[in-house]
Amino acid sequence: DNFSHILISVEGPLGMVQLNRPKVLNAISREMVGELVSAFEHFDNCDDVRAIVLYGGGRAFAAGADIDEMANESTIDFELLNQFSDWDRLSKVKKPIIGAVHGFALGGGFELALSCDILFAAEDAKFGFPEVNLGVMPGAGGTQRLTKLIGRTRALEWIWDGEMRTAKEAKELGVVNRLVAPELLVDEAKKYAMKLASKAPLSLRLIKDSVNKAVDYSLYEGMQYERKNFYLLFSSEDQKEGMKAFIEKRKPHFRGR
Ligand code: HXC
Repeated sequence: DNFSHILISVEGPLGMVQLNRPKVLNAISREMVGELVSAFEHFDNCDDVRAIVLYGGGRAFAAGADIDEMANESTIDFELLNQFSDWDRLSKVKKPIIGAVHGFALGGGFELALSCDILFAAEDAKFGFPEVNLGVMPGAGGTQRLTKLIGRTRALEWIWDGEMRTAKEAKELGVVNRLVAPELLVDEAKKYAMKLASKAPLSLRLIKDSVNKAVDYSLYEGMQYERKNFYLLFSSEDQKEGMKAFIEKRKPHFRGR
C-alpha cells in the first residue's frame, strides 16, 4: 500500500486505482507502471475484489509516458531495464478492468487505456498518439492494439497525424464503450463494475480469457479454446449454484469457486 504514484482503495467488491501524479498530468514513469502492476495483481488475488476501476486524478487520465525519464535513455538502457515487462504483466490480469478516462489519454496513457477491458470516457476526454511529434512511436502496444480494434487504415491515419480525437470520435470508432458527463464519469464506471461484481466471477474470468484469444487465434482455434473454457466452468460450484437458482426461481449466490 506504500505507493507514491497511485492511490488504491477497496470499495465493497471494487478495487479502485487512481493515477496520482496530477502535477505532470499523470505522466507514466517506470515506477508508476510497477505500482500499477502491483496494485492490479494484488486485487487479482483478493477474493473479495470482483472488478477493478482505473482512473486519473487531476485534470487528465494520463498525458503519456514520462518524457523527462525517457529523454536521455539509450537502446541498451531499455533492453537492460526490460522496459515493457511490467506493461506485459498488466495484460495478464484476470479480473475485469474498467478504465474511466477524462482529459488527456495520450501516448502511453492511451496505451494504458487500451489495455483496460471496458472504457468509459468523459465527454471532454481526448485520445491520441503524439509520439510522431517527439521522433518516436508507440511502444506499449499502441500500433498493435489500436489496429486490431479499429482496422489498419484508421489506425495509421490516427497514429501518423499524431492528433487528438474527441471522446465522441473514439466512441464512434469503437475505442470507447460509453460516453459520460465528466462529473459522473467515475460513478458510472463504478456502477458498471458493480453490475459485473454480481455475476459469476469465474464466468467473467474465462470470458475475458476467451475474448482475448479471439484477437490472436484463428476462428477454429478460438472456438476450440472457448469450448474448453465452457467445459471447465462445469467443474465450478457457481455453475451448480447458478443453474439450481434458476430452477428454484431465486437469485444465485456466487462465490467465485
Ligand atoms: C512528462 C509531462 C507529460 C509527459 C505533461 N507533462 N505531459 N511531463 N511527460 N508525457 C507535464 C508538463 O511538462 C507540465 O509540467 C505539466 O505536466 C502540465 O502540462 P502542460 O503542458 O503545462 O499542460 P497543457 O498546456 O494543458 O498541455 C497538455 C498537453 C501537454 C497537451 C497534454 O502537456 C503535452 O503535450 N504533453 C506531452 C504529451 C505527449 O507527447 N505524450 C506522449 C509521450 S511519449 P511543468 O513542470 O511544466 O508544469 C509516450 C511513449 C509511450 O507516451 C511509449 C510506451 C511507454
